[in-house]
Amino acid sequence: MAPMFLASLAATVVLSVTAQMRNDDFPFYDLGTIPAWKDLGYLRGTKHAKPFDKEAYHSDLKHLDIPRLYESITKLMVSSKAFWPADGPQDGDIPSYAGLFGRLAWHCSGTFRLVNDTHAAGGCEGARQRHWPENEWRDNTNLDKARGLLGQVKQEFGANISWSDLITFAGTVALKASGGPKTLRFCFGRSDDVDGAKSIPLGVEGVHQCRGSRFCKSNFECPTAFHWPEQNEKDHARCNLTQPDNRLQASHSVGLIYVYPEGPELSPTAKGYKPEQVHQRSPRLSALEVRDTFHRRMGWTDRETVALIGGGHTLGRTHGNCNLTGTQWGKGTPYNDVGPYFEASPGTLRGPTDGTCGHGAAAGRGANTVSSGFEGPWTRTPSRWNYDFFHAMLAEEWEPAKSPFGNDQWRTKDRKSKYAKTMRLTADLALVHDETYAAIVKEYASDYAKFDADFADAWYKLMHRSQAHPKEEDLRKEVGVCTNFEFVK
Ligand code: HEM
Repeated sequence: MAPMFLASLAATVVLSVTAQMRNDDFPFYDLGTIPAWKDLGYLRGTKHAKPFDKEAYHSDLKHLDIPRLYESITKLMVSSKAFWPADGPQDGDIPSYAGLFGRLAWHCSGTFRLVNDTHAAGGCEGARQRHWPENEWRDNTNLDKARGLLGQVKQEFGANISWSDLITFAGTVALKASGGPKTLRFCFGRSDDVDGAKSIPLGVEGVHQCRGSRFCKSNFECPTAFHWPEQNEKDHARCNLTQPDNRLQASHSVGLIYVYPEGPELSPTAKGYKPEQVHQRSPRLSALEVRDTFHRRMGWTDRETVALIGGGHTLGRTHGNCNLTGTQWGKGTPYNDVGPYFEASPGTLRGPTDGTCGHGAAAGRGANTVSSGFEGPWTRTPSRWNYDFFHAMLAEEWEPAKSPFGNDQWRTKDRKSKYAKTMRLTADLALVHDETYAAIVKEYASDYAKFDADFADAWYKLMHRSQAHPKEEDLRKEVGVCTNFEFVK
């Protein structure tokens, strides 16, 4: 009894010291991310949280000062914080968290799955990305920083804004305030969950604080998976659509809910294999995976898929400007033992090891950040809305390249091109290696107004559909607190 008590006391002390460090160092961090030990207490029923009062929230929403909320988010978006510097300057643009907030909103909403015609799962409503298991999914790396930054706005507005409304609204504001489509609109009214229970069927992995619990059995491996016939056998396998335990995973065990960005690797006997290239990723096979995930699992049309990926990858950048070989990261321990804070070598509580990727206070931050391991922006002005994504994809020839981290990506063959500093993922290039997608890319590259309108419609659907409100207009009909941003000059 006594040793167990001491062990749990020691764990409590360590956890509270860690919590203290997070808060001192990163104000409001703990508002955005619930520590796993607390979440597991909720799931086991040993801890209890006050349930979200939906009726009171909906009634209070009628008095929400939407222009003030917009202003708070836009101010935050362009005031770079030393504890997590905003991107932009490294790409010759202004500092902005627009891309980070956009990815946050997309990853929160992108859990949406169509189960059948009338039933859905996932979606951002519930804000379960704050909770285990979503907050430990590798797909969500560094989104704890985005939630921590938005904690400042949550602190200001308190119960007047739910986390799920804040996350989806912040993503929409990021687009609007960066010069995005004129027809963006938004409705409030999402409730927050007290734990991540509803996300467990979507996938569990990366659990460090949950050993020995029945909740924590990782289903990281797909029980039924396959390779494309032309794919290298050693490459990652793709999850079948129907998993035996009703898990609503996306195409890959690796990404859990989304698409594998590097794309399938061709086998040496496949058509298109070129030994002289630095990698053998296939945009053509990747297109099959994009459609499998976006259409079959999430319910998007091809047009919506192209608009969403192109619009999403107009702002922001990928992060992998660092070779971690020889560090703890390089040895295969990508996460520390204290949960999804600074995903770092054990013990440092800071990003990638000092001296390997930046020095001192800059280590692991800003230009030295590693999130996905890919590196670079998709467009020449990643802090401001633009039309480079489709245009450059058609205008340039893209050749296989490696990020400093070592990931397989693509760069312009013409190294003097005006797009030479931009990059593409294999999953981006998929959109020009599939006939149907390519026709839409061509249309968008020449008709910006059409692209803007389609993107705004698809984004609205993305932000508003969830298990509780499976149809895009459900929130508007039920709560009716909406904005067309008419107050934005
Ligand atoms: C085929 C589907 C997709 C793949 C494979 C993919 C993959 C990625 C990857 C690897 C990153 C880099 C993350 C990092 O290192 O920080 C990223 C960033 C981003 N993605 Fe996607 N993505 C997809 C679709 C989307 C969609 C549909 C949206 C929104 C509608 C979106 C919005 C973003 C944004 C805004 C960023 C920039 C994040 C930042 O600046 O910090 N993505 N995506």
